[in-house]
Amino acid sequence: MPSEKSVYEPSAHASKGAYVTSLPQYQQMYRRSVDDPEGFWGEIARHFHWETPADPARFFRYNFDVAKGPIFTKWMDGATTNVSYNLLDRNVRNGHGDKVAFYWEGNHPDDYSRLTYRKLLEEVCRLANVLKSRGVQKGDRVAVYMPMILEAVVTLLACARIGAVHSLVFAGFSADSFAERIVDCGARVLVTADGAWRGDKLIALKSICDQAMSKCAADGHNVETCLVIGHLGRVTSPKGASQRHKTPMTVGRDIWWHDAVPQASSSCYPEWVRAEDPLFMLYTSGSTGKPKGVLHTTAGYLLYAATTFKYVFDYRPDDVYWCTADVGWITGHTYVVYGPLANAATSVLFEGTPFYPDHGRFWSVVEKYRVTQFYTAPTAIRALMKFDERLVKRHDLTSLRVLGSVGEPINPEAWLWYYRVVGGERCSIVDTFWQTETGGHVLTPLPGATPMKPGAAGFPFFGVEPVLLDEGGKEIIGEGEGYLVFPRPWPGLMRTLFGNHDRYELTYFTKFPGYYCTGDGAKRDADGFLWVTGRVDDMLNVSGHLMSTAEVESVLTEHRGVAEAAVVAKPHPVKGECLYCFVTVTEDGVFDERLLRELKQHVRERIGPFAQPDVIQNAPALPKTRSGKIMRRILRKVAVNDRDVGDVSTLADGTVVEQLFAMRPPDAAA
Ligand code: WT7
Repeated sequence: MPSEKSVYEPSAHASKGAYVTSLPQYQQMYRRSVDDPEGFWGEIARHFHWETPADPARFFRYNFDVAKGPIFTKWMDGATTNVSYNLLDRNVRNGHGDKVAFYWEGNHPDDYSRLTYRKLLEEVCRLANVLKSRGVQKGDRVAVYMPMILEAVVTLLACARIGAVHSLVFAGFSADSFAERIVDCGARVLVTADGAWRGDKLIALKSICDQAMSKCAADGHNVETCLVIGHLGRVTSPKGASQRHKTPMTVGRDIWWHDAVPQASSSCYPEWVRAEDPLFMLYTSGSTGKPKGVLHTTAGYLLYAATTFKYVFDYRPDDVYWCTADVGWITGHTYVVYGPLANAATSVLFEGTPFYPDHGRFWSVVEKYRVTQFYTAPTAIRALMKFDERLVKRHDLTSLRVLGSVGEPINPEAWLWYYRVVGGERCSIVDTFWQTETGGHVLTPLPGATPMKPGAAGFPFFGVEPVLLDEGGKEIIGEGEGYLVFPRPWPGLMRTLFGNHDRYELTYFTKFPGYYCTGDGAKRDADGFLWVTGRVDDMLNVSGHLMSTAEVESVLTEHRGVAEAAVVAKPHPVKGECLYCFVTVTEDGVFDERLLRELKQHVRERIGPFAQPDVIQNAPALPKTRSGKIMRRILRKVAVNDRDVGDVSTLADGTVVEQLFAMRPPDAAA
């Protein structure tokens, strides 16, 4: 039962009072944004503070064609500003000093607090002064490994205040992954917390940082300062959990936040930076080799985060917005921190999980704060729709107006459940397609304005021109399916990969010269709606976490007992996709329970718990062409037990296929 209707018009509830109230109005604004980008974005820029104004003659310049020279994007060249000034001082000056910036809701329902714009500004200034006193200067990178606490926001903005570049790594990544990222970005200062509870599990963040810092030292890179927030001591432990947790501190390097920050001055003059100076970097998986340090700059990112937030969530002054994403991902950067604060919004910052203390936690938080916009991931929706609807209905969710989805395609069943059960058929659903690289939403419905189809990302945001190309690079006009690319940048697109502009050009601009290539496929239907169909490269998306098959394969083959490994994505009812791994053991290796345990553990340690394989299958041989290329297409069929494998005539040894089907493990399901 996917959908009884294929198109859902925005409800009166969503349209009334919206910024954009009809499809023609959206179309008119969209036209202007692509015909006159300088005019469109220039008007928006007037709401922000520029210490030096932009040069109108150089407001927007770019090159997307490798044949014409280096790839670049520049917005508002010549302007200087400071993002923290625009998010904090500007809002305080405009009378929002006492407005709540964040309601913090802890892992345990007994823990909560709030922070106003004025207080946030003071805290940011204090930390900025501490960072300066530890030698952090404009352009220096600061590594951050944090739970979902107010100090995470303070840390990002303190970096922005002094022109330092934050490099936040999701606190679910292992010490190895974190160390690799610290060394790559060259951070000398790290900010973390002693630990945090996720449901009833304790994550010992500082211990992971200690391991990461020793790995860095072994690689010849020394972290000189590690600032640690004492978080565990101020929160409620889950029932039955041990209260004691000792945090080891290394004298000279490690300092407690509470020993340094409260004493520092609460005023700090902002460092004026240029429009194209870096604001932050954030690592994302590459389809080959090392993670990529996606770099975002100042002016364009600010304009884009602010504008997408305002229109896509239709945020109005008294709304309470809640994005459940972790700050460790781009969603957390743009739509927990930068976008909402740029709009003087009030948000909920949630530390916990949807399942603690029970499966109704999301809905009880929506009810508690009278949340108007709720933004989460399809994997969470799919996990929650398995439970009794009464868990949702027991709560008063009438405050909701806009429901967002992000991270992976949302299946129509999940869309409809979200629409009916959570949204009471009154809310608009915004299925936002974007990437770490795009900085903000690029394809999305607008609540109150554009009609919705369950599972479709709909239409381009202002300034974004989507193009579909066929394999030969020819543009597909009208209905059709192809590679999703963009011929022109919008303000929020990344500018480079940190320290590796060649890789930037190679990864995103070489396959189709003249276009930014997303790596996703998409189709356009007869009504002009865009549907993102998923990755066209060797990437998998597990619960919204993007990773490459190559990175998991290389970790598996690090094990002594493994000669070769091939990893494919297998559809999963909750995670969207999961990892199905084929492993060939070495001549003297044995494929047994112990190997399975060790491999799973090894992947957790090297990448992170979210990358743990669901299935590891013994593969005495892999299906290879005569030239030695592994035919993943066949492995994907084995993973789902579909014997309709198609043409296997190019295989060096055709018997391998039957052997793999025969050896599917019992836990592999269908
Ligand atoms: C990849 C980007 C966007 C922030 C979180 C993930 C997939 C993301 C959607 C969507 C279909 C989506 C794409 C994209 N994706 N949102 N609404 N519909 N697919 O950021 O880790 O950079 O991953 O996530 O495949 O390329 P990311």
